Amino acid sequence: MDYNHFVTEFYTFSKIDLNSYKEGQMKRRIDSHIKKSGISDYREFLTLLKTNPKAYETFLGYLTINVSEFFRDPRQWATLEKDILPGIINVTKTFNVWSAACSTGDEPYTLAILLTKLIPSQKFKIIATDIDKDILAKAKTGIYPDKQVINLPADYKSKYFKKTTEGYIISDDIKRKIDFRQHNLLKDPYPSDIDLIVCRNVLIYFTEQAKADIYTKFSKSLSSTGILFVGSTEQIINAHDFGLKSKKLFFYSKA
Ligand SMILES: C[S@@+](CC[C@H](N)C(=O)[O-])C[C@H]1O[C@@H](n2cnc3c(N)ncnc32)[C@H](O)[C@@H]1O
Repeated sequence: MDYNHFVTEFYTFSKIDLNSYKEGQMKRRIDSHIKKSGISDYREFLTLLKTNPKAYETFLGYLTINVSEFFRDPRQWATLEKDILPGIINVTKTFNVWSAACSTGDEPYTLAILLTKLIPSQKFKIIATDIDKDILAKAKTGIYPDKQVINLPADYKSKYFKKTTEGYIISDDIKRKIDFRQHNLLKDPYPSDIDLIVCRNVLIYFTEQAKADIYTKFSKSLSSTGILFVGSTEQIINAHDFGLKSKKLFFYSKA
């Protein structure tokens, strides 16, 4: 079985289209994972993935690098807080936020911390999604090692976290604000009327075609005043082609 055949067979049972991820990078990662698992070829590996749910989840976690942290790229979070949010928050309606590909939850919890400062708690809703079920389970526990809270301002740390031997535990008030759900950006339906979509540090793994499809769907998901916030290496070159317009570096509105 060659790589392309593996990708086709993997899609049949997982509905994850590895063709939408950049091939060189993905193949290297898969080959190295197979080698580490002590398996000799794609066919044997496919059988393992089909028959062993744990091996399947481990593989998924490995494929989709889960690195995250609170206030990742602090300058952009400052722009969000000072320049973007004041212009789009309308206290007469619920402010709907979607943190897409949220990994361990640092990003949606960061959003909840910021929004708590700006809007009464019952006036905003945050859905946080990821393809990886295990990572969502971890996100729900809200426990973080030092390295993930390194950019977290001290006042937030003392207000919303408890330091324990397991790590920093986020407060129930913030935890309660997040609705974690499993969602595959490549195939599942997108929510609508979203005032802020935060999707960072995942589209870099996708092919140009997959990115184009996702941007177009994001544009449809946004409310009329909604904003898409992307990662620091993920500027959208032809935003107009996807129904988007640059508002500020790394921030886009509906065109
Ligand atoms: C590097 S993390 C980004 C976390 C966070 N957004 C940040 O910037 O810190 C990438 C996440 O994308 C998720 N992911 C990969 N492919 C996905 C897909 N097709 N749909 C949804 N999430 C996906 C992975 O599971 C992983 O948790």
